[in-house]
Amino acid sequence: MLANLSISKKFTLLLSLVFLGGVVISGFVLWQILQNQAQREITAKGLLLIQTMNSVRDYTSNHINPLLADDLNEQPTFIAETVPAFSAREVFEQFRQDKDYQEFLYKEATLNPTNPRNEADSFELDLLERMRRDPNMKEESGFRTLSGRPVYFIARPLAVTSPSCLACHDTPETAPENLVATYGPDGGFGWKLNEVVTAQMIYVPAQEIFNTALHSFLLVTGIFVGVLAVVILVLNFLLRRYVIRPVSVMGGLAQKISTDEMVAADLESEELTVIAGQADELGQLAQLFKRMAGEVYSRTEALKQQVAQLHIEINEIKRQEQVAEVTDNDFFRDLQTKAQTMRNQRRRRAGKETEPDDPPEQE
Ligand code: HEC
Repeated sequence: MLANLSISKKFTLLLSLVFLGGVVISGFVLWQILQNQAQREITAKGLLLIQTMNSVRDYTSNHINPLLADDLNEQPTFIAETVPAFSAREVFEQFRQDKDYQEFLYKEATLNPTNPRNEADSFELDLLERMRRDPNMKEESGFRTLSGRPVYFIARPLAVTSPSCLACHDTPETAPENLVATYGPDGGFGWKLNEVVTAQMIYVPAQEIFNTALHSFLLVTGIFVGVLAVVILVLNFLLRRYVIRPVSVMGGLAQKISTDEMVAADLESEELTVIAGQADELGQLAQLFKRMAGEVYSRTEALKQQVAQLHIEINEIKRQEQVAEVTDNDFFRDLQTKAQTMRNQRRRRAGKETEPDDPPEQE
């Protein structure tokens, strides 16, 4: 099938196939790279936030809580601001006020929480169960859908690391009265030392980052395809101009030579002159071809003249032969003899009737 196509079509087809392969392979690699990069970007954001939240927790337990500890139990309502879990969550809620971060979420997903807003959903519960079973599980990350949107999460186990925690999280009886009065006797109790009670969750919206990756992918692929299309067009143009055109001009002339239709003006045509004026290989070929065609032309012309001359000579010879044919036979010779005899007789008869010194008649 390829053999039937013209050079430029063959060229375009093969080049397009090669480029298509290139675009598919590089597109695939690019997509992987961009996706990995997007994932790295999301992970970096998540890690930064979870680290920040842990710092807020530490700040609250190291600086705020000691400051108010003495006063804490005297208050009728519990001062939640002194609790690390509360301050971390509240700081994050402040952070989410910015509309760029509305879809971010920080949660201390807990099995039996003090504050119901920290109640683990089924996905988090499953994660938490695995963390409780496997003490080596230090971090888990991945994608899930939250309120209909794809989000990336990073989860870390949070254990009851210090006996001081149990002052509030052991039983409602041992916990500060104002805490039980504020939160009730049901949630946030019965925790054991070193037990993993919470999955610290950070959620980062993924859609936008993957959209950016897709946008970059389409842009780069688009530019790539555009450049390749221009390359094919330019190569096609150059191929036509510097290869196909010269070859077809010479081919046309060769065709004329073969059918003996070439005239002297063909050798001086502008196209051939331009091509022969080029310094490249086809220019040199065109020069040689032009010279060769010129010689073929002048030889043919000389031959034609010789043939014409020969025709004239042959005609002359034929004419003479025809004359000879008429004059050079027995009948003609016989006729000549008879004519001579008749002339002689006439002369003799005339000699008797007139003077004898009449001059003889010429033959
Ligand atoms: C002074 C009492 C007190 C102490 C001590 C205390 N907590 Fe809490 N904790 C609370 C209260 C109150 C809340 C609910 C805060 C809120 O409204 O979000 C809470 C919430 C939490 C939460 C969020 C889940 C939930 O139950 O709502 C975790 C996790 C937590 N505490 C872990 C700890 C750990 C670990 C320690 C020890 C380092 C500790 N707490 C020490 C009172 C305390």
